[in-house]
Amino acid sequence: MVAEPGAASGVNRTLPSRYYYDSHIFEQEKERIFYDAWICAARSEEIPRAGDYLLREIVDESILVVRTGGGEVKAFYNVCRHRGNRLCSAESGRVSGRAFTCLYHGWSYNLDGELVATPNNKGRPSLDGDPLSLYPVAVRLWEGFIFLNLSRDPEPFEPDLGALGDTLPKYNLANLRIGHRKVYDVKANWKLVLENNVECYHCPRVHPELCAIHPTFRSGVIGQETHDGAPLVDGATTYSDTGFGARPMISTLSEEDVAKFRSLTIYPNLFLGLLPDQVFVFYKWPVSPATSRLTVDWLFEESVVEAPGFDPRDTVGFLDRVLKQDYAICEEVQKAIRSRAHRQGVYLEHEHLPYKFNQWVLERLHADG
Ligand code: FES
Ligand SMILES: [Fe+2]
Repeated sequence: MVAEPGAASGVNRTLPSRYYYDSHIFEQEKERIFYDAWICAARSEEIPRAGDYLLREIVDESILVVRTGGGEVKAFYNVCRHRGNRLCSAESGRVSGRAFTCLYHGWSYNLDGELVATPNNKGRPSLDGDPLSLYPVAVRLWEGFIFLNLSRDPEPFEPDLGALGDTLPKYNLANLRIGHRKVYDVKANWKLVLENNVECYHCPRVHPELCAIHPTFRSGVIGQETHDGAPLVDGATTYSDTGFGARPMISTLSEEDVAKFRSLTIYPNLFLGLLPDQVFVFYKWPVSPATSRLTVDWLFEESVVEAPGFDPRDTVGFLDRVLKQDYAICEEVQKAIRSRAHRQGVYLEHEHLPYKFNQWVLERLHADG
């Protein structure tokens, strides 16, 4: 175990406060976490046809994710091999002529990233035998999600499903579809947001509406990252003001999944909220030491999203309120945590999930090599 935080008198220490604002730590996190670990970037359904593409910003790097002519998903750094211009600027789109063309001098690359044209030049240039293809980024598809890894030698892709390994397949994630998306800019370090996300000690004070749906949350202790999950009130089926929605349960779930909320965090940036009628997804994107961006997707079965009159406002509005409560408190913590008096905080026993996450961060930052 790494040295800095350790157990002391029945409590565990949080990360040192400077980990939440220090630009040197943030640089280390870029290299050791966001440019080295598998990052969940998007849903595969966002680029269904050959030539469809999207951009993702992984901290300072812009990554181009594309559906090739062969139906594969490939990813490249969004930078031209000629003199380094950005190749694409639109957040998403469909490339015409099955080639990306740089706006500067017109070099073109096909959907597999190969250089295919250099205007007003005979033949195709290369450098020491390098054909000047786009710089590749490793891709893995998992349950309908696209994961990227910026390392030249990516670690094995092994998402840790914890206690939910046998349960997750019941949610049929690969076949769910995006019914709604929202983006939140939060003035708080990405780790503060994640830590808030995985503990419910704050729920009784911060989330009165959520506690009405989850009476057990009033005790501040939840078992959401377990097979048993956290019960919803009186057989409720969704997150909404009433706890009931017009949508059917996900058809692959069974009776034992009624009125249950489960969740799963896959470090560093993916969170899944598993409800009977939907799965909501948080992608966390660090922007600077003290700011983050959150993309939230609400996933439903395809038949639900495509049904005439599909309207998720009841559940989107409810979660939106909960998230704004969370982000307001995270922004307050971000301001206060810089106090010269507060070098480090503590976690109680039932805050074991943020503590576990902190250990993971420390292992990555301080591992050899
Ligand atoms: S920088 Fe792209 S063609 Fe010159
Ligand atoms: Fe919360």
